[in-house]
Amino acid sequence: MARYDLVLRGGQVIDGTGAPAATADVAIAGDRIAAIGRLPAESGGAEIDVDGLAVAPGFIDVHTHDDRALLSRPDMAPKVSQGVTTVIAGNCGVSLAPMLAGRPLPPPLDLIGSAEHFRFRRFADYVAALDAAPAATNAALLVGHSTLRANAMDRLDRSASEREIEAMRERLAEALEAGAIGLSSGLWYAPAAAAPPAELETLAKTLHPAGAIYATHMRDEGAHVLDSLDETFDVGRVAEVPVVISHHKVAGKHNFGLTRRTLPRIEAAMATQEIGLDAYPYIASSTVLREDYIAVSLKILVTWSKPHPEAAGRELADLARDWGMSQEAACARLQPGGAIYFTMDEADVRRVLAFEHTMIGSDGLPHDSHPHPRLWGTFARVLGYYSREEKLFALEEAVRRMTGLPARRFGLTGRGLLAPGAYADVTVFDPARIIDRATFADPTMPAAGIHLVLVNGQPAWRDGAATGARPGRALRRQQMQQEARRSGS
Ligand code: ZN
Ligand code: CU
Repeated sequence: MARYDLVLRGGQVIDGTGAPAATADVAIAGDRIAAIGRLPAESGGAEIDVDGLAVAPGFIDVHTHDDRALLSRPDMAPKVSQGVTTVIAGNCGVSLAPMLAGRPLPPPLDLIGSAEHFRFRRFADYVAALDAAPAATNAALLVGHSTLRANAMDRLDRSASEREIEAMRERLAEALEAGAIGLSSGLWYAPAAAAPPAELETLAKTLHPAGAIYATHMRDEGAHVLDSLDETFDVGRVAEVPVVISHHKVAGKHNFGLTRRTLPRIEAAMATQEIGLDAYPYIASSTVLREDYIAVSLKILVTWSKPHPEAAGRELADLARDWGMSQEAACARLQPGGAIYFTMDEADVRRVLAFEHTMIGSDGLPHDSHPHPRLWGTFARVLGYYSREEKLFALEEAVRRMTGLPARRFGLTGRGLLAPGAYADVTVFDPARIIDRATFADPTMPAAGIHLVLVNGQPAWRDGAATGARPGRALRRQQMQQEARRSGS
């Protein structure tokens, strides 16, 4: 009788620690990796020859806006097609829960859904919905500060009162109780821009006893990015919580080169407190339509527009010309909507990616009609373009930034590493062929070179197509902390 459910034979095992790849068989039993090494012939109920292919831990997309996609598009094709097996949702201050809207929500909350989609009064209701209708990938969940504000406040252009902060704290506590791994903020956006650091510090203090984290889309990613770094570090220090700087970048042509200063500043602060950061491998960002980005962008592409759906995929400058108006006026006419902004310098993007502490996060926007290609391309682009072609770092190091490093940073016990006893989240890919195919013109093309993706031991993607399986789980902080204690890690 076969000892294992599945044996992947003879692949190049990249274990997620950064260690050099080594030829080995990988055996899977149930939802776990049972053994790695030279395993007896025919010891697997199923055997797959993966000679010449890389076998890696499933990738962890640390920065997503997949809160609703997990429910509305449970095959999670944009993610599993690139080898992603776990997503961190609820970033940039925007989470689907807890929120019972019944009215249109301000940007950028509308990036993840309309009023009718915000239907979870308690965070526990959202987690229960994920349990009842699992997606193909695992999900760990952040609570959005802007979502909490929209719950507690009648208007968002001011700081919260003590009573309102208390109301936010209660909802945050409920979410943490339901398994959330932390709090996210989006201080650059209108719903949170008026929140002073003290508001964040007070909320972040609730995270400390839970062992939860704070992730932030900082107040400024332009000329004042260094001040924003200090603000972020302060919140972490005062509340004694780990912080994650989301999609670290420097935007605007006058600020090109500033990552020469931000990265040393981050590294210095890491000596005294826990800090993480993530990045996506593109020189363009994407979010809701913002008039203030017209002046600093080299080019703007519309990703969606409620009044003008036909504008998706077009350049704002062309639309403005067709309509005989300024880009500002065209922007107003397209609202509500979203766009891609070419605002970064390739040298900065490379410097951030090459920084040894940088994790990979797509920041993909799954509901946009003409999305930024990062949604479908991020992980394959890092592996195929930046690692293999541009040699920015070794393949093993690229894999570590999307597996072992984020699993430790976000407390995802038993994931992000290939080792006996770990969960069988596994991505088999061709290191010579893996590449992103999604482009700004054609943004929903699946990556090339991904052969097989297992989530909790079940194939979710095989030979270029989703299998239809939905083996993903809603990961609870408490359970992961318990498992960490049990395994003594
Ligand atoms: Zn963001
Ligand atoms: Cu984001």
